[in-house]
Amino acid sequence: MKTNILPFALFLFAMTMTSCNPTAEPKRPDLIGVSHVGFYTDSPARTAQFFTDYLGFAVAEGGLTTPGCTVIKFNDRQYIELYPDPDGVRNQSMYYALETDDAEAWREYLFALGEDVPADPLVHGRTCDLRLWVPTPPSGAALEIVQQLPDDLLAQTKGQYLPEGRVSDRLGHIGFMVADMDQVNPFFTNVLDMKESWRGGSRPDVVQWVHMQLPESEQTIEYMLYDEEPSRGYRGVMNHICLLVSDVDAAQAILTTRTLPEGCRNDGIQTGADNKRQINLYTHEGIRVELVEDHFVDGIAAPSSTGQPMKYTAGQ
Ligand SMILES: [Fe+2]
Repeated sequence: MKTNILPFALFLFAMTMTSCNPTAEPKRPDLIGVSHVGFYTDSPARTAQFFTDYLGFAVAEGGLTTPGCTVIKFNDRQYIELYPDPDGVRNQSMYYALETDDAEAWREYLFALGEDVPADPLVHGRTCDLRLWVPTPPSGAALEIVQQLPDDLLAQTKGQYLPEGRVSDRLGHIGFMVADMDQVNPFFTNVLDMKESWRGGSRPDVVQWVHMQLPESEQTIEYMLYDEEPSRGYRGVMNHICLLVSDVDAAQAILTTRTLPEGCRNDGIQTGADNKRQINLYTHEGIRVELVEDHFVDGIAAPSSTGQPMKYTAGQ
């Protein structure tokens, strides 16, 4: 049989040229969830007591907790890290980590975009996972992208340090201060490929909170907007975490059986502007933890605000 191989050869040539094209757009790797959050606290012991004695979590051992870092797991993939900041120089700031299944691909992707990430491949850190610090526009939180590995320290504690009585079993979102969303949005939408899912505020004419959904997850980050220099206390309100519950009444019933540690607060059940019931809780130094129901009241989503986003430009 006579076969004309020219079209096939041309096809192969075209494919080769495409794959070697240095001007091809770098492909964004996946972001599959919120991994963990790190808080700086004047007392990791007191903050840990709030999470253990009141919320029912446990301090993780297995090498995860060290003299400089206390780890409390929410589940086998999500956790909080507490770092000592006795003099308050961190001023209620935080960092957060988003999970990927390929941290090295993220380094290559961001490097190709000209971001300030290492030129060399990632190496395993203390916890044996892969972590990449990512430079971001100014905000109240720093960003890390993390890849869990089958033999890392977190994996080695699978199923451990997760008490039955913990009030929640998952981190829903993290929120952090953003002075100007116009300044940060290009990074989060164009580079990280997040999509805005909701915006709202305590008044209809202003936007204070903007939810940005991760590309391969239902989980979100939340811009916390403001328009004047925030106090230290209000920084702790804005830089926060959200723990999800299926029934906030049941969660509150559990909490009423426990003693609120000295200096901490439980503001009771409220319905948020996003039409989800929630309880705002505060550590002894004012770090906010939202306990939020994983569904809307009556199943009805709150519409996004049409108000004007808050912006703080002084001092920039
Ligand atoms: Fe929130």
